[in-house]
Amino acid sequence: MLGAALSAQLRRYDILGIDKENCDITDKSSLAKKIGNIKLDAVVHCAAYTDVDGAEASIKEAFRVNEEGTKNVIEAINSKECLFVYISTDYVFDGNKKTAYTEEDIVNPLNVYGASKLAGEALAAKLNRHIIIRTSWLFGPNGKNFISTIARLAKKKEAISVVCDQTGSPTYTFDLAKAISDIIDIYFKKGVVSGIYNITNTGFCSWAELARYIIREAGLKTLVTEIKSEELKRAAKRPKNSMLSKEKFKALSGYNLPIWQEAVKHYLKNYVFK
Ligand SMILES: NC(=O)c1ccc[n+]([C@@H]2O[C@H](COP(=O)([O-])OP(=O)(O)OC[C@H]3O[C@@H](n4cnc5c(N)ncnc54)[C@H](OP(=O)(O)O)[C@@H]3O)[C@@H](O)[C@H]2O)c1
Repeated sequence: MLGAALSAQLRRYDILGIDKENCDITDKSSLAKKIGNIKLDAVVHCAAYTDVDGAEASIKEAFRVNEEGTKNVIEAINSKECLFVYISTDYVFDGNKKTAYTEEDIVNPLNVYGASKLAGEALAAKLNRHIIIRTSWLFGPNGKNFISTIARLAKKKEAISVVCDQTGSPTYTFDLAKAISDIIDIYFKKGVVSGIYNITNTGFCSWAELARYIIREAGLKTLVTEIKSEELKRAAKRPKNSMLSKEKFKALSGYNLPIWQEAVKHYLKNYVFK
């Protein structure tokens, strides 16, 4: 999802978009062939093992892609001059904090996916020129996501059960891609950007609130039954609090991303119900 949005957003640069079909990041020789001989100014590393529940049973595979794969990409870049942008997640936190997480808060992932993404962060953080972007609850075209799933289910069912005790920010891939592109521009102009940045759409909600918003926008009457995380038998635990503070990004860029309701409305109108 994010890689496709970024490829569209970054067109003013000379870009090389890579996907698993033409380059597997767990295969060093495939990476070397693809990027080993190119002088790159920046790499945005979006590729990941993203099946949060699947990772609980496939621990090795999650770490093979998210940690070793990241190591391979870093090695293949083969230049200390290149900016490395690593895309990370709210799932590095345990969710026990009562307010929004800042970039300085202590990490403590509850699941394998979060731990494997954190291992990738640690590798990125060793580089002189790195930016780690923590985001949450992504949606957009080119992939499965909560919003398109709820829109599809709500059409078929009279009632759906949705978790009400996890709070976070839905994030539109196009809005995040613009923010990443702006950070890269600032980096090239000023060269001072480094470290972790939280970036999501503005505002917070629970999954149940988000589902109700989707249903309302769809003009449907489907009932949302609120359930607790524990009632939904899923392999991976999720943080109850996924709220990320975006003050650091705002101080750098001068703006906040659009509120999540606007972003969801745009996605539904232009990609789900069109
Ligand atoms: N989705 C979310 O809610 C969310 C939240 C926070 C952070 N993030 C992070 O944001 C980034 C983008 O996520 P997304 O939602 O756009 O996920 P996505 O649509 O699943 O994209 C991940 C991409 O990585 C590719 N990939 C997997 N293994 C690979 C390998 N060995 N070599 C090369 N490519 C490989 C996948 O290809 P295949 O599909 O062919 O396997 C897929 O195209 C990821 O780093 C993710 O951890 C996502």
